[in-house]
Amino acid sequence: MNQNQSHNGGANQEACAQSLGETRKPIEPCSIVIFGASGDLTSRKLIPALYHLVKEKQMSPDYRIIGFARREKSDESWRQELREALDQFSRTKPIDEAVWKEFSKRIFYCQGDINDPAAYQKLEKQITGFGNEPLRNNILFYLATLPSQFGQVAEQVHKAGLLQKENGNGKGWQRIVVEKPFGHDLQSARGLNAELLRFAREDQVFRIDHYLGKETVQNILMFRFSNSIFERLWNRDCIDHVQITVTEQLGVGQRGGYYEESGALRDMVQNHMLQVLALVALEPPVSLEAEPIRDEKVKLLKSIRTLRPEDVAKQVVRGQYFAGTVNGEQRPGYRQEPKVAPNSNVETYVAAELFVDNWRWAGVPFFLRTGKNLPLSASEVRIQFRPTPHVLFAAHCGHPLDPNSLTLRLQPNEGITLHFNGKVPGTSLQVRPVRMHFSYDSEFGAYTPEAYERLLLDAMIGDATLFIRRDEVETAWGIVDSIRAGWNTKPLSNREFYAAGTWGPVAADDLLGQSGHAWREPVVVK
Ligand code: BG6
Repeated sequence: MNQNQSHNGGANQEACAQSLGETRKPIEPCSIVIFGASGDLTSRKLIPALYHLVKEKQMSPDYRIIGFARREKSDESWRQELREALDQFSRTKPIDEAVWKEFSKRIFYCQGDINDPAAYQKLEKQITGFGNEPLRNNILFYLATLPSQFGQVAEQVHKAGLLQKENGNGKGWQRIVVEKPFGHDLQSARGLNAELLRFAREDQVFRIDHYLGKETVQNILMFRFSNSIFERLWNRDCIDHVQITVTEQLGVGQRGGYYEESGALRDMVQNHMLQVLALVALEPPVSLEAEPIRDEKVKLLKSIRTLRPEDVAKQVVRGQYFAGTVNGEQRPGYRQEPKVAPNSNVETYVAAELFVDNWRWAGVPFFLRTGKNLPLSASEVRIQFRPTPHVLFAAHCGHPLDPNSLTLRLQPNEGITLHFNGKVPGTSLQVRPVRMHFSYDSEFGAYTPEAYERLLLDAMIGDATLFIRRDEVETAWGIVDSIRAGWNTKPLSNREFYAAGTWGPVAADDLLGQSGHAWREPVVVK
């Protein structure tokens, strides 16, 4: 670095951005095989994400995409279907015709039953037919199937000679990407891991949590460890409590069948919310490589205090929506949704108070809440700092001053807000909360790649940082299982129902009220 640069913040920033970029491995030619290709995920998320990677020249110029599914279709009719979906779901519109022309030429369909070995022979022939060696040897298997089919697919692609478990045989790389839900409890997650790991090494298995693909979620680590003013406050001495909120305006809609088996705890807490919690609370990793980060996440999840059934009664609240109005729109109750049992006790809302029993966080409550059919869709982390002593202002302000807080808005209106107190101009000593706000859009422009773009790219590169390791997924299930054990088969009580369009059951307010806290509702930030 020359002297000019050392005094020049801009050059330093550029140098750092460059060196972070340079550490990324190059992307090699590969074939991507999507199992369960006729499902929604493929048309809504995977194909639009791949299209954008191609459009932005992030993919290797040499790639093939094969959709594997049971329905009878030709390459041409599948391309046509995907094109219609892309017109609808692409984050950029209109579709670039020249890019689509090149992209669609590399998309193929393989009709077959997941249980039929002959279908995998056909797939093998198709891939071999690509002629080019890297396309034959570098394969990303994307399992957008039922979890109960993961083991079967891994076994069959292995038997067809497409998936090699041995390392370093010079035959390229093969990786398996699996969608959530990864099991429905600890035991089933262990079973899935055992099945997959019969045919693949752990470093070939990429378990998706799409929250980790979100820019703002990735920024949690960067924000914490690159800002000295906050880094030194990030502990029990300065932080009173943390609130992690993921609320959704949408109800369960057409997903009743899935949701009856899942509920909010498995659908949102086991994965997305515990991941966000882990990133907010983990210790600094020794480097930004995948394994050190994942080691720290596992350590953090393991230090979450286990809930006994009697703790669950005090620290966890579940809720279910009944009919109400969201944004002026009338919504049915959960029990009236399609494929939902009329007496279902499945939770569409969860709030929990968790404790992280380690040196940094001893005694600091982490409040988590998530729910469907709430007034606003927003995900945010609010760090509430300890208040200053009230003595100085007691004579002037009747009520204690608002403690400082920092809100990391993960979506929408991605940004960070610092709340502090300021004197109201004039002769009085009146103090009131004010805020400083950083908005991603105003700073960086509206660059919002979809989480799947980043995740697919990383899986092709072989960077597992944003994917969930075996011990991580199992530890998270352990936490969720202890909550379920506390609920046992108890039906929901009256205090656990909430009208669609409200902020959740009253029991959730009491959960914080018992320790003198209150939920802070996400606000629409403009
Ligand atoms: C999914 C859940 O994993 O995440 C859905 O299955 C939920 O129920 C969704 O709606 C929320 O994701 P996002 O990115 O919209 O916050």
